[in-house]
Amino acid sequence: MSALVEELSVKVFRGKRVLVTGHTGFKGSWLAAWLQSLGAKVVGLALDPPTDPSHFAAARLVDGMTDLRIDVRDQSAVRDAIVSAQPDFVFHLAAQSLVRRSYAEPIETWQTNVLGTLNVLEALRALEKPCVAVIITSDKCYDNVEWVWGYRETDVMGGPDPYSASKGAAELAIRSHIKSYFPNATSLVRIASARAGNVIGGGDWAADRIVPDCVKAWSVNQEVELRNPKATRPWQHVLEPLSGYLNLAMALTQRPDLHGEPFNFGPPAAQNHSVLELVQRMAEHWNQVRWRDVSQSAAGPYESGLLKLNCDKALHHLHWHAVMGFEDTVRMTAEWYRTYYRSPMQISSTTAAQISAYTAMAKQQGLAWAR
Ligand SMILES: NC(=O)c1ccc[n+]([C@@H]2O[C@H](COP(=O)([O-])OP(=O)(O)OC[C@H]3O[C@@H](n4cnc5c(N)ncnc54)[C@H](O)[C@@H]3O)[C@@H](O)[C@H]2O)c1
Repeated sequence: MSALVEELSVKVFRGKRVLVTGHTGFKGSWLAAWLQSLGAKVVGLALDPPTDPSHFAAARLVDGMTDLRIDVRDQSAVRDAIVSAQPDFVFHLAAQSLVRRSYAEPIETWQTNVLGTLNVLEALRALEKPCVAVIITSDKCYDNVEWVWGYRETDVMGGPDPYSASKGAAELAIRSHIKSYFPNATSLVRIASARAGNVIGGGDWAADRIVPDCVKAWSVNQEVELRNPKATRPWQHVLEPLSGYLNLAMALTQRPDLHGEPFNFGPPAAQNHSVLELVQRMAEHWNQVRWRDVSQSAAGPYESGLLKLNCDKALHHLHWHAVMGFEDTVRMTAEWYRTYYRSPMQISSTTAAQISAYTAMAKQQGLAWAR
């Protein structure tokens, strides 16, 4: 990161106390790595990594941060941890994040995603210092009526499956708590919510996600089964929404009028590709891999169809937009996993190099946070 020491995000986060919940998971581990590279003092609050292997363990992120293993459903433990950390920033990502698992474990999903979020908000109430908090929900918080337009932040909350509904409910809880307890722009704590979806990138080994399915199968020379090859998704690299969350936090420090506002972060509307296209592109970076269409025989619980986000609000207020096209997104993802399966000890420097490369691309595109 040395060539980029003047970038805005370094200035804002260097030396700051930043608490990240869900730091042992896919997105949280990348955020923790990024914040470490910006010189922040990072405190993580989560359960154990949800997968083995995990990005958190492989990149040895524990070496650069305080690692707290606390259940977000434990109200007093969450309050004590946040009050004792005295954070300048909080990013709340801890969640039960899988749609299929939410069908099997609805109560745990609602408790973690809704009560866990309320516990973080309650802990923020107990802070007697300025703090900016970004609460991560999901694009699935919207009532998906399967229309062709991108959802805007003012659209109706909802979702048919327990995961999506819990994320919509978390948004309602955030809104209610802000209106009830942090009602005005002079509040010491400023809070916003962030909605993104369908991220890919190195270090994800979660169940029932297409990229992890591919690399798990291909790393042991097996073919991957495609349950839904024709489904299209607005794929984006994990660093894209994370740059949105960092931008939103930076903006909140300057702009009290953004307190209480939700923001969408997604790729350009045209960046929709099918699962099959994604797998074909991934395959270009591996040797002799195979896949099989099992869509005729694959039965599974309902998962909503295409869900696009309208990101004009982030562009207008934060000057944020996604940086990478589909090809770079897939290339970076495939390169990370190839390095991991060949030389796992190098993965921490691959993660750092990809964060630097992404920041350089943003800088080239003139994005303020990277300058
Ligand atoms: N990955 C995606 O494509 C995606 C898309 C939209 C939204 N999101 C949201 O982004 C956030 C991070 O997603 P991810 O893919 O990194 O998830 P993940 O499953 O990889 O990680 C979840 C993290 O939350 C922690 N956690 C789970 N239950 C907990 C509990 N009861 N107490 C404390 N910690 C707990 C885990 O230990 C882990 O650190 C989640 O809020 C998720 O809903 C993810």
